[in-house]
Amino acid sequence: MGQSVAMFDFASDLSRFSPLHLPQDRVLKNRVVVPPMASGTADADGKVTERTVEHYRRLAESGAGLVFVEYTYVDQSGKSEAAQLGIQTQGHLSGLRQIAEELRTAGALPAIQLTHAGGKTERDLVGDAMMGPSAVPVPVKDRALEAPRSMDAVDLARWRSAFVAGAMRAHAAGFAMIELHAAHGYGLNQWLSPLTNRRMDEYGGSFANRTRLLIEIVFAIRSAVPDLLLSVRMPGQDFLEGGLSAEEGARLAALLERSGVDLIDVSSGIGGWRRPGDRKGEGYLVPEARRIQDVVSVPVIGVGGIESGEYIDEALRDRSLSLAAVGRAILRDPSLWRRRNLACA
Ligand SMILES: Cc1cc2nc3c(=O)[nH]c(=O)nc-3n(C[C@H](O)[C@H](O)[C@H](O)COP(=O)(O)O)c2cc1C
Repeated sequence: MGQSVAMFDFASDLSRFSPLHLPQDRVLKNRVVVPPMASGTADADGKVTERTVEHYRRLAESGAGLVFVEYTYVDQSGKSEAAQLGIQTQGHLSGLRQIAEELRTAGALPAIQLTHAGGKTERDLVGDAMMGPSAVPVPVKDRALEAPRSMDAVDLARWRSAFVAGAMRAHAAGFAMIELHAAHGYGLNQWLSPLTNRRMDEYGGSFANRTRLLIEIVFAIRSAVPDLLLSVRMPGQDFLEGGLSAEEGARLAALLERSGVDLIDVSSGIGGWRRPGDRKGEGYLVPEARRIQDVVSVPVIGVGGIESGEYIDEALRDRSLSLAAVGRAILRDPSLWRRRNLACA
């Protein structure tokens, strides 16, 4: 009896160097993830430039097993900054194909985050197409945003088909995984949060209604591109009074798992990704990941101020997460990070 418990107690043997098996016979060579980070290197149409390719070649030098390409808009109306990447036409694919190839050559699984900004954007970028679940300004830290127009059934259909088309294009460009950005106050997060979703129809109010659009998009992508791995970046909670609660975050993760999502990437919600005032040290959002990893069996990515391989080993062993995202520490100097933290693999 004791022996069988020991045999199945894999967590004590886990380290940052442990491979992770995913569906579709995909294997991550280690537990380190480069999370999506906007590089501001695209051209005015959202197309990849030489600088973008160079940026990802450099990030891949980190040795991470999974590298996400930054948030990439699926429809012109969902753009949120000037030099942001887009995937809204076939013409965007050749540059993205080059990046996927660079990442694969470096031994990483190539992934890309897909987004629609919803109301977290500005008229200068999207004109009258600024839209969201309700005509409520999205609360952001550093500026006051305009209220978007409330979306109708045609707009909803447009989002669904734009996300599906984006996923199909990402697949065609050679990405093995896409991630839906449903965190940090962007479009899909606005549907989840009672602060920005005040609708009275079947897409607002109850938890089932607020999660409906995201789940419809998950199902639509699953059936259109079944062999593409699917991750969702979701808020553990909104960290704002009256927003998505920690309890709803856990319910959402369980719902995503039941809906066929392969990986759950846990960050923060409305208000953005920065460190909450009362959280100190490495892994400031890892308590959110842990709460989610406790209720799902798909792998969970934890993030937030993670700097060292030793921290990652500890978080894996106490089952707080299955994968650790290291953003700014890798961005500063990817090769140095690899030499310090992955050199003896
Ligand atoms: C320059 C920069 C750009 C970012 N862009 C994105 C993004 O495109 N999508 C996203 O989900 N998060 C984005 N983030 C948040 C990171 O993915 C990550 O969650 C955050 O940096 C915290 O991790 P860290 O402390 O390891 O840097 C960005 C962060 C930085 C520093």
